[in-house]
Amino acid sequence: MRTEIQFQRRGKTVKLASMSPTLTLLDYLRLTERATGTKEGCAEGDCGACTVVLRRLRGERLVYEPVNACILFAAQADGTEVISVEDLTRDDTLHPVQQAMVDQHGSQCGFCTPGFVRIPADRRCGAQRLLCACQRLVLDRGAGRAARLDGAEG
Ligand code: FES
Repeated sequence: MRTEIQFQRRGKTVKLASMSPTLTLLDYLRLTERATGTKEGCAEGDCGACTVVLRRLRGERLVYEPVNACILFAAQADGTEVISVEDLTRDDTLHPVQQAMVDQHGSQCGFCTPGFVRIPADRRCGAQRLLCACQRLVLDRGAGRAARLDGAEG
């Protein structure tokens, strides 16, 4: 019987043994690892502020799956590589999506920003929509645009 879970994180193997079974991946990232770029917004899987990507094998294929870390138990990351918004930066150089957010003042309150950056930055992952609650914006990746929910110009 296994007594620990393992996942890859920033090139290292993370082993968690005596953890609470209800520890969320978000709490692990923020409270244990202090990787606070991933935010807690709604804490119930609706807003996307906590979006991270899990890289894992599905059969013969390596897939990138965006998940809401606030409602994912850390144990469910077993056998994956956990990729967060901090991991987009290379050698202190922002990812082009991050740089565009800075250049265009794209961050509003900032809570949804990790998800808004995380998903478009990784063309391999399959998330289709993210919601920015403060501005009521929806990033519709399938349509390649952001739209306001209330129909206002912006
Ligand atoms: S904080 Fe996880 S979806 Fe909102």
